[in-house]
Amino acid sequence: MAGYTDKVMEHFRNPRNMGELKEPDGVGEVGNPACGDVMSMMIKVKDGRIADIKFQTFGCAAAIATSSMITELAKGKTLEEALKLTRTDVAEQLGGLPPIKMHCSNLAADALHAAITDYLERHKR
Ligand code: FES
Repeated sequence: MAGYTDKVMEHFRNPRNMGELKEPDGVGEVGNPACGDVMSMMIKVKDGRIADIKFQTFGCAAAIATSSMITELAKGKTLEEALKLTRTDVAEQLGGLPPIKMHCSNLAADALHAAITDYLERHKR
């Protein structure tokens, strides 16, 4: 597909961590106002770290590839570290995204941050 790096295509064809988590500790759901696509991210948290993570999306190739990549980056990280992951980190790891597709990578980063926020809200004392 025009403008996508091999890495993007590889993650699009073989997405990591796609699916559903049973009884997630946090869930983030976001919509992309630019195109109407939606993304949901689920996390399991253990000892302050992301022990498991899965995503589901109705999104384009870039949305799938960025989600796949962000789940790989986030797994094993502390919540604090994962909150610092940005769409730029993801795009860099993928060898870049066409500028017109950068908005798609918001979905992955926003959904991850929303899932962490959801977890923190549920566990507020
Ligand atoms: Fe909607 Fe990419 S076009 S997420």
